[in-house]
Amino acid sequence: TQVYLNGAFMAPADATISPMDRGFLFADGIYEVIPAYNGVLFRFEEHLIRLERSLAEVDIRNPHSRAQWRERCEQLLRANGGGNLSVYLQVTRGAAEKRDHAFPSPAVTPTVFMMTNPIAIPAADSPETAVGARAITLDDIRWARCDIKSVSLLPNSLLRQQAVAAGASEAILLRDGFVTEGSASNVFIAKAGTIATPPKSHAILGGITRDLVVELCHQHGLALEEREITEMQLRQADEIWITSSTKEVVPVIQLNNAIIGNGMPGPLWKALAHHYVQHKR
Ligand code: PDD
Repeated sequence: TQVYLNGAFMAPADATISPMDRGFLFADGIYEVIPAYNGVLFRFEEHLIRLERSLAEVDIRNPHSRAQWRERCEQLLRANGGGNLSVYLQVTRGAAEKRDHAFPSPAVTPTVFMMTNPIAIPAADSPETAVGARAITLDDIRWARCDIKSVSLLPNSLLRQQAVAAGASEAILLRDGFVTEGSASNVFIAKAGTIATPPKSHAILGGITRDLVVELCHQHGLALEEREITEMQLRQADEIWITSSTKEVVPVIQLNNAIIGNGMPGPLWKALAHHYVQHKR
């Protein structure tokens, strides 16, 4: 296994970072997770555009051009044998001389860390045998800028852990009675033939997979609305899906203790999964 740290490739044990790094002290950093299939990065530009936006929102200097990011990601994928891997990349504000909530001035060099992780074979690859996931609903306890892909993931981690402890794989979050997203995914519902997902705002991360699913629905004539979803509409949905770069589109067949639809991945999910796999090829 090889990881990348500040310009060099090395074994994970050799990648050492200062405890003064603001990523460590303040979770002052931004990250991305980019999937690669057969060693080829998927939706790379879209991920890079979001990375640039997140960095700009928190005023961390982007240390690399898009071409440089691509070259480093591809080199890291090759160093780890290619195949189906996701690239995790993180940029923090860097190591300051002393702990101070305000940014170091003058600015210090951002810390760049990258690693790869295997991608499990997604449910969408085999729609006929997919079994579906369980989710629970929880109060969205996060901050007011969830559109920034920040490494400050303690609330997300606490929420996901609650889901896992309850025997579920994801927490679907509610703010003021409306669905925002999952602890690490976006949410779609289908009711009476119409698909819906919450609009992009500061309350959710604008998922790259979400955008692709919206695009595929438009392309293939599936009725889709970007609109607010109430807790009641979630509970009464015929289908619930969650999306992310590492899991693609996953059907949810149980919410809290209730069965969704007939307890099997629904027909709209199957149609979408088919289009998703076609698109990937
Ligand atoms: N998480 N919402 C949140 C809060 C997320 O953390 C993620 C992704 C998504 C889906 O975004 P995308 O489709 O661009 O992956 C939505 C990544 C995979 C992670 O934290 O590992």
